[in-house]
Amino acid sequence: MNGGEETLVAADPAELARLGAELIARAIAAAVDARGVARVALSGGSTPSEAYQRLAALSLPWAQTEWFWVDERAVAPDHPRSNHGAARRDLAAASIPEERFFRMEGESPDLAGAAARYERLLRARFGVASAVSFDVMTLGIGDDAHTASLFPGTGAAGIEDRLVAAIPAQPDKGLEQRLTLTAPVIQEARLKLLLARGAGKRGVVAQAKRPGPADEVPARVVRGGPGRLVWLLDAAAAQAG
Ligand code: 6PG
Repeated sequence: MNGGEETLVAADPAELARLGAELIARAIAAAVDARGVARVALSGGSTPSEAYQRLAALSLPWAQTEWFWVDERAVAPDHPRSNHGAARRDLAAASIPEERFFRMEGESPDLAGAAARYERLLRARFGVASAVSFDVMTLGIGDDAHTASLFPGTGAAGIEDRLVAAIPAQPDKGLEQRLTLTAPVIQEARLKLLLARGAGKRGVVAQAKRPGPADEVPARVVRGGPGRLVWLLDAAAAQAG
């Protein structure tokens, strides 16, 4: 049983950003109306940046929002590759109280410990007796079909015994170690918003939409679980290959 899946195709990257901001904003407003708080989990990467900036310009109940990260690179928060740092810059125009941001400790020398601490934080924020169900989660897809920091051929997409995992470096791809939410948390989100743009993403998007082993195409994990899935693509990424 899942909450449905749809694909929205934006004419160009600017429309993708506008629609992305609008969908996140609506999910925030609905969550605040229903439960008094909206919990958002953000991915990094280049694609969502403009959507975050447009979101920050909207009028929303910012004081009732809480911000978490889908994944983080093993760098300090002020490093140019920090997902937290990038999103904070993008969201700077929104009046979100500082204590409403909950970042992953990418700079920790003990990433497994940092993953366990983030898991405890999530349990505490959502309530120990409740599921960790984000109201809205943004996701991306890499050229190798990873989503979050679940990389292909590593077994990471199959991790089910933790909410947060430390991921080894991918030296062949020039990528540092990561912290990431795992598939069960991704699948539990009420709205999963997967953003992809550009012709380079066409093949991996098509693969991710086809059933098959998640270890080969980790972005397939977004299709499982009770939440609603929206593929938000620009025309170039959406075109049938
Ligand atoms: C990260 C991510 C990652 C990202 C994809 C797509 O930290 O890099 O969260 O999963 O969403 O790699 O990245 P682009 O938007 O840059 O293509």
